[in-house]
Amino acid sequence: MQSAAIVAARIARARHTLVLTGAGISAESGVPTFRDAQTGLWSRYRPEDLATPEAFRRDPALIWRWYEWRRGLVAAAAPNAGHRALADLARRVSLTLVTQNVDGMHQRAGSPGTICLHGDLFRNICSITRLAIEPEWIAAHGDEEPPPSPHHPDGYARPGVVWFGENLPQDALDAALAAARRCDVVLSIGTSGMVHPAAGLPGEAQRNGAWFAEINPQRTALSDGADLVVADTAARVLPAIVAALSGA
Ligand code: OAD
Repeated sequence: MQSAAIVAARIARARHTLVLTGAGISAESGVPTFRDAQTGLWSRYRPEDLATPEAFRRDPALIWRWYEWRRGLVAAAAPNAGHRALADLARRVSLTLVTQNVDGMHQRAGSPGTICLHGDLFRNICSITRLAIEPEWIAAHGDEEPPPSPHHPDGYARPGVVWFGENLPQDALDAALAAARRCDVVLSIGTSGMVHPAAGLPGEAQRNGAWFAEINPQRTALSDGADLVVADTAARVLPAIVAALSGA
């Protein structure tokens, strides 16, 4: 694959590489993306309408059930060749991996120090205090949807993810921006580039002189700004990049 070889050659010469991933990297694991069509039970909801504090206040049981469904789906899925190739790449070159995903797949594939901008699907926090809630508490209140919070009488357990209108974890954002400013190569993989500040990272890297490649079978909000667009899937392209790097 010609374009994989081009990306590999850039990475081989780079002092540091930044990789930004989105839901598309987990698509080949069977985890639905946000903006591609939904199927089944939840097809009448738009995920972005369920991922807000207002939605949770309006109908906490609905939101809790939706996240429980997603947790079950992700727990039953496995990292794919794309996730594994990125873990492999991090063992070969200096690389920062920043993900918008909350599914834990990069960590399960063995990527060290993954920066999670949007939180962790499997954590629970108090809807009012935002303090962490232990799994044992959730298990003991598992028949309540959602379980109550141990930290506040009016609070509920909610997933430890970032919803629209909420701030990203500052330490994660700072680390991602620092990597954007020092990398020579930035890759955007499987993201529509619609949600900021994550979507601004490739541009920030480019303003600091980095070369930018996008890996996505569809064109996105970031495609026009990319130096190279590889119009193929993550599980096909990423192993080809690692193979080209090994051969280089
Ligand atoms: P989207 O659902 O917006 O975009 C997924 C992208 O993955 C699309 O551009 C697809 O073309 C692409 N894609 C699909 N299959 C692919 C494959 N096999 N290989 C590579 N790319 C593929 O998901 P995100 O951009 O991650 O935020 O969405 C960003 C944020 O919006 C999410 O983190 C979430 C969501 O609402 C919060 O929950 C705060």
